[in-house]
This record gives sequence, C-alpha cells and structure tokens, in this order.
Amino acid sequence: MRYGEPHRHLFECGSTNDYAVGWALDPDDPAPDGALVTASHQTKGRGRRGRSWDSGVDENILMSVVMRSEGTSEFVWQIAFVCALAVMDTLRELSIDSRIKWPNDILINGCKAAGVLVECPKDVQPTSWLAIAGIGINVNRTVFNDAETYPLPPTSLTLETGRAFDIPNLSGALIHSLERRELQRRNGGWGDITHDVRSRLAIGTAVRRGETCGVLHDIGSDGAAIVRLQEGTFERWRSVDEEVRPNSV
Ligand code: BTN
Repeated sequence: MRYGEPHRHLFECGSTNDYAVGWALDPDDPAPDGALVTASHQTKGRGRRGRSWDSGVDENILMSVVMRSEGTSEFVWQIAFVCALAVMDTLRELSIDSRIKWPNDILINGCKAAGVLVECPKDVQPTSWLAIAGIGINVNRTVFNDAETYPLPPTSLTLETGRAFDIPNLSGALIHSLERRELQRRNGGWGDITHDVRSRLAIGTAVRRGETCGVLHDIGSDGAAIVRLQEGTFERWRSVDEEVRPNSV
C-alpha cells in the first residue's frame, strides 16, 4: 500500500468525504486503499453530529482518505484513533504539542485545531471493509467568526505558533503519518496505538452524555472512554452526546 496515491485535488467540492465515497464505490474505477482526495474549498464540509465544517479557500487541510482492505469491519472504529494519532504525530514533527479529546478532536492548549470524521459507506463486498477518513486541520486560519458558538473554542496552527504553513507539504507529512499508523494497526500494533493515545489524552476535559457530566480520565483498549463523574465514580462510555467546552461542567 502507498497512501496518498492516487491523489485527486479539487478546487471546490461539497465535501471531500462525499467525493471519496463516490470514488470508492465507482464500479469502473474504484479508489484503492490509500487514495487521497484534497480540496481547496468545501461548500458543504461536514463535522460530526451533523455539524458543518467551515474553511476559507486554501487556508486549511481538508482531506479524505479511502481506507479499505479484506476482512471484517468489526475493528473499523479503530481508524478514528489512527487518524487522530497521525494528526498528532504530524504536529509533533513541527514541535507542536497536541492532545486528543476523545473520541477524535485534536486540541492545542485546550482549543480545537483539528477534527476527524470517519464514515463507513456500505461496501459492495461482504468480505471486506471500507472507511472514508475525513480530516480537517485549521492551519493558516486566523479568524473564527462567532467563535463562542463553536462546541469547543477553535484555534489554528498559525494562531498557536505565529507561523504560516505550506498546505501541500503538511498534507504530505500527514498522509505519511497516516500510512505509518495504519500499517502499525494492521500489523497487530493496536496495543501500542492505545498506549500512544492514552499518553496524549486530554485528561480532565469535560464530556457529557445526556444529563450525565464528567471528565475524561482514560480510555480502554476497546476504545471506550473511562469517565470520572462528578461524584467521583467512574463509567465506561462508548460515545458522547455532546461536545462540552473545557471546564464547563
Ligand atoms: C469534527 O470535528 O466534527 C470532524 C471534522 C471533519 C472535517 C473534515 S474536512 C475534510 C472532510 N470532509 C468533510 O466534509 N469533513 C471532513
């Protein structure tokens, strides 16, 4: 496998994830494992929980990677962690320290710099799995209108470092990190991946499920969050209902 090839760059599209689904399921020319879609601009960029993901032209990383292989889809949920770690590895190469707010927000100094949206369209083959890994990183963006309405306070690499970054170079580094982490996962390295996620977990950030509030404490090898509730007890959560601003519970 060679991640990042073939690569289609679009000046504009609705969502790179939607484009990648269409390409992956194209009966004449299906995108292989590692095929990359990037865009200068999205008109209908999507985040998790039906939110929109907004970005100026050529300002940020907007990419979707087709990930597929033979085998069952029971471990496809691991890919969100693989993507988050790939983003953090890439930032680390730039000497930027980041944390993962489970399940897949990337924070710098407590503010959200990147998000991951993994979607699994129905594959035609029952014996293989297909996932579209969508990654958005706020790179050179400096203005977030209505930042107080964002579920988490937003930031960008430029806001955090005072530097401008070359988007194609950064995308290249990211796809390389993603390939390395996905190879690790496929070669039995899930334990090491979990270890790395745990060591970079944004421990203590607020999470909420329904009426229940708590703070992130740890994650299990099944990817579930271990949440410390206000009364000091612990629960395992498979998902959260809402993003919660740091320190708001
Ligand atoms: C989130 O944090 O809610 C996930 C954001 C994911 C955004 C990326 S940008 C590239 C890809 N295309 C989309 O429409 N969404 C993802």
